[in-house]
Amino acid sequence: MRVAVFSTKPYDRKFLDAANAEAGHELVYLESRLTLRTVAAAEGAGAVCAFVNDELNGSVLAALLQQGIRLIALRSAGFNNVDLVVARDLGMTIARVPEYSPHAIAEHAAALVLSLNRKIHRAYARVREGNFALDGLLGFDLFGRTVGIVGTGRIGAVFARIMTGFGCTILAFDPRRNPDCEAIGVRYVSLDELLAGSDVVSLHCPLTPETHHLIDAAAVARLREGAMLINTSRGAVVDTRAVIRALKTGRIGSLGLDVYEEEADLFFEDLSNRVIQDDVFARLLSFPNVLITGHQAFFTTEAMRGIAETTMANITGFGRHGRAVHEVSVERLA
Ligand code: NAI
Repeated sequence: MRVAVFSTKPYDRKFLDAANAEAGHELVYLESRLTLRTVAAAEGAGAVCAFVNDELNGSVLAALLQQGIRLIALRSAGFNNVDLVVARDLGMTIARVPEYSPHAIAEHAAALVLSLNRKIHRAYARVREGNFALDGLLGFDLFGRTVGIVGTGRIGAVFARIMTGFGCTILAFDPRRNPDCEAIGVRYVSLDELLAGSDVVSLHCPLTPETHHLIDAAAVARLREGAMLINTSRGAVVDTRAVIRALKTGRIGSLGLDVYEEEADLFFEDLSNRVIQDDVFARLLSFPNVLITGHQAFFTTEAMRGIAETTMANITGFGRHGRAVHEVSVERLA
């Protein structure tokens, strides 16, 4: 099948080409993001392959269908960028990669916790400048601290195991309890209890209408004074402006982000020669106790291989039987 593959970098192509060696699809690599402006680039393809910041709203889906495209193969677990209701009404199939490496994201969240706590980002810069002073680098023992995990699915569960290894007490909030987490001593509590009782809060829930701005001004007000907040899920789970206010008062002691509400215009590109126009993001960058990575938590060899292989299996399944291996639809979510 001819597949228009949007938002691709050389590293994507390497893993997709390897996974496609047997399947033999015709992959047309496009650097641009999929938006209403770029949708025409899919002309002639039977399927579209898309990533986290590609726009799959109603208008884009309708334009794709007009070109005869009925399969959208997402190279991601999250599908918050797809209008599933419109996809259903148009009879389009949405496939995703539900699991590739939960370890990749959980380990990255742990890396953010450790780096922020021990100020590794600041120490690295200081030592390179010949500044070996310790002032401002004081951290705390993770041993004996309480970590709150919002969302204990595949990634949250791995993160719980990692933090248990440090000797942390784990609180969790999730409408669905995970027995694997309960088995290692994770205690399920209300969101309010989690926010009030945790030294570190890490977000691992999907972005849905219910979780949009889950961490808003009211939630931030319930945090322990000086708590650390980590977000590797989706940017809009956090109200960035509320978090900035809390960083200024000290309510939030440190913030680690791999995702950002308005990341689509920033992440995955080298903008180092340009002036950043997003003042909210620029403010975040100005804090010494904020550490941001550009949506790289998934970026390990194992995860990239898994994403590419499952994506090819989805496309092949659809080509052969009209069904992708891992479909997502409003019905399946209900
Ligand atoms: P999952 O589906 O296995 O687990 C999600 C968990 O969140 C489930 O247990 C669900 O019950 C829970 N949840 C749903 N609504 C909730 C709410 N209102 N409050 C608390 N918990 C809630 O998903 P998985 O694989 O663990 O991924 C989680 C999210 O991580 C994805 O949806 C995606 O947005 C993000 N992600 C980020 C990546 C990155 O590179 N930064 C890479 C992969 C995923």
